[in-house]
Amino acid sequence: MRVLVTGGAGYIGTHTLIELIAAGHEPYVVDNFDNAVPEALNRVSELVQRPIPFTDCDVRDRKALTEVCETFRPEAVIHFAGLKAVGESEERPRDYYDVNVAGTLTLLAAMEAVGCRRIVFSSSATVYGVPEYLPYDEAHPTVPLSVYAKTKHMAEGILTDWQRANPEGAVMLLRYFNPVGAHVSSRIGEDPQGIPNNLMPFISQVAVGRRDKLMVFGDDYDTADGTGVRDYIHVTDLARAHVKAIEFAEHTAGAEVFNIGTGQGYSVLDMIRAFEKAADRPIPYEVTDRRPGDVAAMEADASRAAKHLGWRAELGLDAMCESVWGWQSANPQGYEEGR
Ligand code: UFG
Repeated sequence: MRVLVTGGAGYIGTHTLIELIAAGHEPYVVDNFDNAVPEALNRVSELVQRPIPFTDCDVRDRKALTEVCETFRPEAVIHFAGLKAVGESEERPRDYYDVNVAGTLTLLAAMEAVGCRRIVFSSSATVYGVPEYLPYDEAHPTVPLSVYAKTKHMAEGILTDWQRANPEGAVMLLRYFNPVGAHVSSRIGEDPQGIPNNLMPFISQVAVGRRDKLMVFGDDYDTADGTGVRDYIHVTDLARAHVKAIEFAEHTAGAEVFNIGTGQGYSVLDMIRAFEKAADRPIPYEVTDRRPGDVAAMEADASRAAKHLGWRAELGLDAMCESVWGWQSANPQGYEEGR
């Protein structure tokens, strides 16, 4: 299928391009390079040995998006473009609603202009809020707490209503748990700007010597070792879930929600130990206060994706840590050298 990939130069977007092409699909990227670099697309292009067509365009730019759609005639869209830092979303709510919510509406308008009715949306497990039970299944109540979570929840609602008004359309809402890992080639990976907010990039920057030590946010949670537990999912597994989702959407109409996780939770200390093994070096850390807004534990019930999409995570914790170390040690400054 011809697949328009918004935010295709980003962390999950680049990994998805590789899996799309491997499965015989034809992607076209739009990205405004706000939190991504063209070098990432160059590297994808090297890996797949073909050019990756793209337009430098903001997802809120209706005219430019419509022009791309009129030229490329997408049969499906994978919508990654958005702002994604939970803490920042509280400081810049207008930007988050504008990009993540208004951007989704603009994209739908551009899709309607060319009769494209299939979309896979990058949602987040954070829409569930505080767990009433674990693992979360898709029927768990959604009580989004952060501005970021609210924008994802609103976009889910918009897409669901849009599908109801366009019954021949297919909307696939993928609720990601915690994406980590890098491509096996070590050529592409996560490259956060500034100080990383998330655990895995922080650990890997400590391992490579860019930062002195990790701060562990709380060891008094009601978990096995007291540190926060999350369901980490390898980005390559996550990328393959998108391919399964567009292929499902090709033959089905409806709005569907899928958890994309492994079903296996690991604590912060588990992650430190696994990374120490992969990188063969100690990760200095210090326990500090809990981070406001964090929950003790999150785990996915991903059985719905297995049943309907025929997708399940295949890569375990060692593969996650080894691939992050491969990427970080080969690219200590991320894509910097190529910028
Ligand atoms: N943590 C630390 N030290 C750090 C960073 C994180 O101890 O420097 C801990 C956190 O307290 C948490 C765990 O590591 O227990 C994971 O934290 P992350 O920031 O990596 O991930 P979150 O679960 O907080 O958030 C992620 C994504 C969000 C998404 C959310 C739910 O960053 O975008 O999962 O899906 F919304």
